[in-house]
Amino acid sequence: MVLDNIYFKKMTRSSVLELLQSDKFSQEITINGWVRSFRSNRFIALNDGSTINNIQCVVDFENTDEALLKRINTGAAVAIKGILAESQGKGQSVEIQVTYLEILGDSNPDEYPIQPKKHSLEFLRENAHLRIRTNTFSAVMRVRSKLSFAVHKYFQENGFNYVNTPIITGSDAEGAGEMFGVSAFEANKAPLNEDGSIDFKQDFFGKETNLTVSGQLEAETYAMALGKVYTFGPTFRAENSNTTRHLAEFWMIEPEVAFMDLDGNMDLSEDFIKSVLEYVLEHCKDDLAFLDKRFADEEKTKPQVQRSDMTLLEKLNFVVENNFKRVSYTEAIDILRNSKPNKKKKFQYPINEWGVDLQSEHERFLVEKHFKCPVILFDYPANIKAFYMRLNEDGKTVRAMDVLFPGIGEIVGGAQREERLDVLKEKMAALDIDEQELWWYLDTRKFGTAVHSGFGLGFERLVQFATGMGNIRDVIPFPRTPQNAEF
Ligand code: 4AD
Ligand code: MG
Repeated sequence: MVLDNIYFKKMTRSSVLELLQSDKFSQEITINGWVRSFRSNRFIALNDGSTINNIQCVVDFENTDEALLKRINTGAAVAIKGILAESQGKGQSVEIQVTYLEILGDSNPDEYPIQPKKHSLEFLRENAHLRIRTNTFSAVMRVRSKLSFAVHKYFQENGFNYVNTPIITGSDAEGAGEMFGVSAFEANKAPLNEDGSIDFKQDFFGKETNLTVSGQLEAETYAMALGKVYTFGPTFRAENSNTTRHLAEFWMIEPEVAFMDLDGNMDLSEDFIKSVLEYVLEHCKDDLAFLDKRFADEEKTKPQVQRSDMTLLEKLNFVVENNFKRVSYTEAIDILRNSKPNKKKKFQYPINEWGVDLQSEHERFLVEKHFKCPVILFDYPANIKAFYMRLNEDGKTVRAMDVLFPGIGEIVGGAQREERLDVLKEKMAALDIDEQELWWYLDTRKFGTAVHSGFGLGFERLVQFATGMGNIRDVIPFPRTPQNAEF
């Protein structure tokens, strides 16, 4: 049945990407892939994931068994042998004249959900295991993969060490968000203390544990020896946020650098983001060209006022080529207080006084309407930020920074860390954070403490920006959100 095991002979097998770039005409080639469409009993559009583009395979239908032709359905896996030829057809340079075709895996056209037509993103989310077989999702996920590589490349080439911080954490003091508990107790059967609370001393770790919301505190301890470190791993937040920017499980990149202050941190975040976007602009041309067109089509469906005034590629190039605007929280509040939407009471949360936390409507006003470029806000009020941020001389602001992006809002959150043991302890006491629990964190301030800074970048928000996808659920393979953990 299986003619010389075509699909195991890796060495002689070509990819669609290779063939589309090849000029080795008249040679026999073998290829595996999935049928995207089959038209006129003759033309197979074949894709194998190596590129957004399909290769056309021309079947000699007069000399092909009718039963076999009937099995060439969208979604079927096939092995093909053929001759590479210059294509007569429009929009492609090469094609394969099929000499041998074998169906490796059938796909029943009455049942296969992914037909060659436009499906809604909502429908595709429900079929997340198959949506990767569409142009949109394969393009997004190839860009995601290249972006991941660019992240490692950037840090590795700049002297950073990759650190894997724990996913199960025994400290819940970070305060970055609601946590998911981790326990080996069977639900309902957990032993209780006298007061009715769960007795975690008898649990697997002998204490209460959670999925991490951030690797920062552990990364800080590593920065205090390796100098420059970064994490790149999954983080978890049990917030009930049903927005286009929130996931319950997302990937975060957290660089942490010793002997670097907040200015250095801002420089690093800007240089890093520009560098990884430049990398995908250079290495994902075909996918980005497709996503650029898709973005333009999506924008056309929106009311004029909501439309982006730049194409996707223009937005990416704009970010790479222009300086991010750096603005203090205090300046931002002045701008917002005097802004048109604030005066006309258009903000859901009006800005009246210094000290309030900024909502995404405010962040987007600053980025999209006022400055019209990425913005780094810094020096936030101490009491709306985490305990570990360095207190400024004014005694009321901390050396925090958020990077805000058009269409996304906050993409990075970071800070210069409080390196002074006494100030840090005071802050923890004021916030009722148990010193015992963070004894190891405090040790870094006891032994060889130093100025240091870092930030966290939400990887999916970066992928959203790079691909122009409006919903964060569409840039991670299997999204976890409230009420949704299928697959
Ligand atoms: O601003 P956050 O909460 O900062 C921290 O966790 C710090 N410990 C980071 C650090 O300094 N090392 O989160 C950092 C970034 C946000 O700016 C956002 O891009 C992303 O993580 N993020 C989320 N992305 C998707 N879904 C969520 N629920 C997110 N929450 C935060
Ligand atoms: Mg934040």
